Amino acid sequence: MRVKVNLGILVSGSGSNLQSIIDNIENGRLDAEIKVVISNNTDAFALERARKHHIPSFVMQNQDYISREDFDRKMIDVLKSYSVELVVMAGFMRILGSLFLDAFPMKIMNIHPALLPSFPGMHAQKKAAEYGVRFSGCTVHFTDAGVDSGPIIIQAIVPAYTDDTEDTLAARILKEEHRIYPQAIQFYAEDRIEVTGRQVHIRGTDRVQAPPLHNPPLITF
Ligand code: GRF
Repeated sequence: MRVKVNLGILVSGSGSNLQSIIDNIENGRLDAEIKVVISNNTDAFALERARKHHIPSFVMQNQDYISREDFDRKMIDVLKSYSVELVVMAGFMRILGSLFLDAFPMKIMNIHPALLPSFPGMHAQKKAAEYGVRFSGCTVHFTDAGVDSGPIIIQAIVPAYTDDTEDTLAARILKEEHRIYPQAIQFYAEDRIEVTGRQVHIRGTDRVQAPPLHNPPLITF
């Protein structure tokens, strides 16, 4: 029998990554159950998505808590009360404190819309487009005390073009986010993930066969 991993999903916005996780659970590809969705934004469309799929949700507004510890403690309580095993940050716009990190050691994942360690932090797609990179992408990683700095689980690469805007690049990246996040969670559900320092070994996966990519394509060489 396939074992399901209990997820707690943290959101702040649209929740398209939440939706891709819901869809992949519903279509039987992801062995997980979303026990609770927590948002620190009352207006997050992600809450609507949770409601539609009868997933319990919880709003925690930053200003209602006197300190980060207070916020973290409450969030830990909620997640533990739902027996959450893996915390999934899906567009959650808040840095987690050490209390929270210690409560879920190597059990918190985040997705970032850039090829880390390039462009950590806010507005990653805008920064990448303005920088003129030829490739960008997205990264799922374990969360540590830094900003988008934890051990990398999986990355996807997309080309970036000189006429890209923040929005066109973000849309190209988001499509891949919706594929790699469920995959990273499924690796976890299958107990394949082994972390040694910064190295995340995924048991039973092959070496990627992709050839080197060039943008623009090579013409002469
Ligand atoms: C995504 O681009 C994610 O990488 C970033 O925030 C965005 C959230 O999008 N951390 P959504 O709320 O999942 O649609």
